[in-house]
Amino acid sequence: MVSFKELGLVNTREMFAKAIDGGYAIPAFNFNNMEQLQAIIKAAAETRSPVILQVSSGARKYANQTLLRYMAQGAVEYAKELGWENPQIALHLDHGNSFELCKSCVDFGFSSVMIDASSLPYEENIALTRQVVEYAHRFDVTVEAELGVLAGVEDEVVAEESHYTKPEEVIDFATRTGCDSLAISIGTSHGAYKFTPEQCTRDPKTGRLVPPPLAFDVLDEIMKKLPGFPIVLHGSSSVPQEYVDIINANGGRLPDAVGIPEEQLRKAAKSAVCKINIDSDSRLAFTAAVRKVFNEKPGEFDPRKYCGPARDEMEKLYVHKIKEVLGSDGKA
Ligand code: G3H
Ligand code: 13P
Ligand code: ZN
Repeated sequence: MVSFKELGLVNTREMFAKAIDGGYAIPAFNFNNMEQLQAIIKAAAETRSPVILQVSSGARKYANQTLLRYMAQGAVEYAKELGWENPQIALHLDHGNSFELCKSCVDFGFSSVMIDASSLPYEENIALTRQVVEYAHRFDVTVEAELGVLAGVEDEVVAEESHYTKPEEVIDFATRTGCDSLAISIGTSHGAYKFTPEQCTRDPKTGRLVPPPLAFDVLDEIMKKLPGFPIVLHGSSSVPQEYVDIINANGGRLPDAVGIPEEQLRKAAKSAVCKINIDSDSRLAFTAAVRKVFNEKPGEFDPRKYCGPARDEMEKLYVHKIKEVLGSDGKA
């Protein structure tokens, strides 16, 4: 058993309270490798933004949980080396789907876990979430739960269609589970294809897809029921068209990829939404940079020569999200 406090990490309690008061949101960036982690820490240190490092169960399988844990510990030291005296960094399990997985992460030094039992019947979601909360809180680890189902693939949680969170359930759910934050469904979804072309309109000037707006009325209802309670938005990548274009111009094929427009995320960040999850945009930034090098320099085979530009591009993206979308710069 190792406490996250020994690793220099923080849980999300204070981060969220300050974010709600200050009308901004904390970035939750997924990471699977060293370059992503370097880029996240450099961006957070440069902008003095609190940050949540997220590990999915897929990332655990890909990179090994021991390695990821020590990488997060190393990230705290790296942040200090970059001149960030008091780094506010949380290590969070993204979409945990069992008590055992959440317990293992708590025992292993994570400062926050998500139990995603949103695909289970309501009472089972409550029971499993409550079990995780009881264990995690013994070690001051914060717990994110989910109510409502996002469209698309949630890691290993698969949903056929989007079911918005029902505002009438949130008080009962939050009270009975004791969760610290709640992920809700208001129209976001995971990945780079958040809406089908049929769900969108087309901008007549650019020919680009324009997605339908998020269900801010549902968010408003939830905030009325749970004033000041930390709300989380998953599936919040914007799928920047410049990356999609670079990928497509350099041998890739991402037809009709579409994300959540940044204005909508800016609006959400000013509300009780205090954690915004971004993974796909970083994957796009990485892939765009790598494809460009491969296309322009077919003789290149030193991974540092294509992972380096990819890392720089991701850092640029993270700084942009922090400063221009979430507003968390200067808050740590
Ligand atoms: O919510 C899903 C995250 O983007 C993690 O994705 O399961 O492919 O690591 P992953
Ligand atoms: P995106 O696929 O929109 O980046 O969402 C990531 C996410 O919600 C991780 O939990
Ligand atoms: Zn998610």
